[in-house]
Amino acid sequence: MNLKINTATVLGAGAMGAGIAQVTAQAGISTRLFDIQEEYALAGLAKIEGMLDRGVSRGKVSLEQRAAVLAKLQPCWDLELALEAADLVIEAVPERLDLKLEIFAQVSGLVKTETIIATNTSSISITKLAQAVQNPARFLGLHFFNPPPFMPLLEVVYGQETSQETLDSALALSVRLGKEAIVVRDSPGFASSRLGVAIGLEAIRMLEEGVASAADIDKAMELGYRFPMGPLKLTDLIGIDVRLDIATYLDANLPGDRFQIPELMRTMVAEGKFGKKTGQGFYTWVDGEAVS
Ligand SMILES: NC(=O)c1ccc[n+]([C@@H]2O[C@H](COP(=O)([O-])OP(=O)(O)OC[C@H]3O[C@@H](n4cnc5c(N)ncnc54)[C@H](O)[C@@H]3O)[C@@H](O)[C@H]2O)c1
Repeated sequence: MNLKINTATVLGAGAMGAGIAQVTAQAGISTRLFDIQEEYALAGLAKIEGMLDRGVSRGKVSLEQRAAVLAKLQPCWDLELALEAADLVIEAVPERLDLKLEIFAQVSGLVKTETIIATNTSSISITKLAQAVQNPARFLGLHFFNPPPFMPLLEVVYGQETSQETLDSALALSVRLGKEAIVVRDSPGFASSRLGVAIGLEAIRMLEEGVASAADIDKAMELGYRFPMGPLKLTDLIGIDVRLDIATYLDANLPGDRFQIPELMRTMVAEGKFGKKTGQGFYTWVDGEAVS
């Protein structure tokens, strides 16, 4: 039996949280978008408005659709209020185990026992995160991709205690959200991040060793292997900081040195060069486009 999902709460209004909230609101689900400060929650909402405005100017979104999506969205900075009616919670806060565990323990005490609690983690163990909640049968990974309104994949990850009912509900939800689901057993980096980060780290090592320029390493994959986007540009888009967190987790939790962090990656993050969001990464970004 599927659980009926009428209301959702997204935790964290950053790059992923805002996009996920847009996706659930577009599917007609009343959505509260929570962040720790008012300005962050409002910035998340403004980001969604910007996305919808671009859709309107390109003729892809009607003014009625824009209004309907915004009517389903409520920014929140009070956790209790954000969660009061949630049938589904999707967490999209930074990729840090301690932070996520703390949030899930809090959330679990504020929602109904039947509420599905999901994490958008890119790598962290679902089974480990589920230990923080009172009802781990209702806990799973719903891994969206960047930017959530446009990326068709939803990686549905089940932990040791995730119930079949929760999994079925997630698969029904993915149809409602217009996403193509893959079902993956909990293991570090799941199916997507494990492969994607491995390629990204190797590309950074190649750049570090002077094998080719960033643009040419990317072109090798784009033109030679039909990747829609090269691994370095994709790392810029995701955030070098976000990928560093994921790679650190994978390095600690998978055997061997496959996920050892390249020095260049650490240096860039230390210098605040996070990629597209800061304007500088492997490429220089102006108005959302890589210019060099
Ligand atoms: N960026 C990507 O391409 C991508 C893709 C898939 C999954 N993810 C995963 O999604 C998650 C979020 O990544 P992001 O790129 O959106 O990060 P981000 O840094 O853009 O956003 C994180 C947001 O969480 C907020 N936050 C921090 N502490 C919080 C708390 N206690 N409660 C609520 N909000 C809090 C921050 O203020 C920020 O707005 C991570 O787990 C990441 O691994 C990221």
